[in-house]
Amino acid sequence: MSELNKIVLKIISGGKGILAADESNGTMTKRLEAVDVPSTPENRLSFRETLFSSESMNEYIGGVILYDETIKQTTSFGKSIPDLISSSGALPGIKVDMGAKDLASSSEEKITEGLDGLRERLKNYYKLGARFTKWRAIYNISNKYPSKLAINSNAHALARYSALVQESKMVPIVEPEVLMDGDHSADLCLKKTSEVIKKCFEELILSKVDLSGIILKPNMILAGAQAKVKISNEEVSLKTLECLKNSVPSEVPGIAFLSGGQSEIEATENLNLINKNNDTNFIMTFSYGRALQQSALAVWSKNIKNTMAAQNIFNHRAKMCYLAAKGKWTNRLENK
Ligand code: 13P
Repeated sequence: MSELNKIVLKIISGGKGILAADESNGTMTKRLEAVDVPSTPENRLSFRETLFSSESMNEYIGGVILYDETIKQTTSFGKSIPDLISSSGALPGIKVDMGAKDLASSSEEKITEGLDGLRERLKNYYKLGARFTKWRAIYNISNKYPSKLAINSNAHALARYSALVQESKMVPIVEPEVLMDGDHSADLCLKKTSEVIKKCFEELILSKVDLSGIILKPNMILAGAQAKVKISNEEVSLKTLECLKNSVPSEVPGIAFLSGGQSEIEATENLNLINKNNDTNFIMTFSYGRALQQSALAVWSKNIKNTMAAQNIFNHRAKMCYLAAKGKWTNRLENK
């Protein structure tokens, strides 16, 4: 087993998943202002420190993805954030892309930037304690999009990023996210997501990335958020499995889904069904941002000194996601 494969398994085995707390300052400001909390470095740290000090970190969370500001912060009791995360047994990770910018020649689409100087930034993040990284590509979906240009350009960037990350002895999370926005059908999502993922693996292989040392972070197969016809959760799970079976090479150890705007319960239930129906060897778990943090943030914002109230909610969500990653979640457990 390679060292990279060991890191992957440490993060996502046995029902553990990933807490995606890597919102950029821009995104975090939107999240905090929505609950009437000023977005200062202190408040951003305070919410994240609350989550990272929770009991559930020990049992249910194998890795935390951080943002550049957070990985360099020190907690109120003097520990560095990476040390706080490591002390719970989870691994610190870091978002290394520099965001999605308009794609030249197809301005309604995005290309993720951040390759220039990446090798040097990775060295520094490793020294700060990071053992895995994230790069997110986003794709609009409609009959016209994503274009071949967006699919190829983002796959190429994801592959160059992954090769550099593995060279730095860290595990790359490869995140090609086909967005939920739109009125498209689930079948169109299945077709386009398969195309996107297949192209990513073509490029990863060309860049000689060790596939046993990556984590794929895809979207689930859903009808668009504005679609009139939705599909059942059972169908979501079956179509998601169909997509992954036809587009992900078997060497990949694990898949950690993003929640992408699904509600907390929806993201949990869909992951649970994916695991119940999982007839592959892939580990299927969560790498959720909003679906792990939304309720905790709402409670925390009411009284940011009452860390226990926010931690109780976060502990519950983390446990529900952990059970879903084992296919052992039921709706009844939500009210206990
Ligand atoms: P969501 O689960 O909120 O989609 O966030 C996951 C993530 O890391 C997006 O890049």
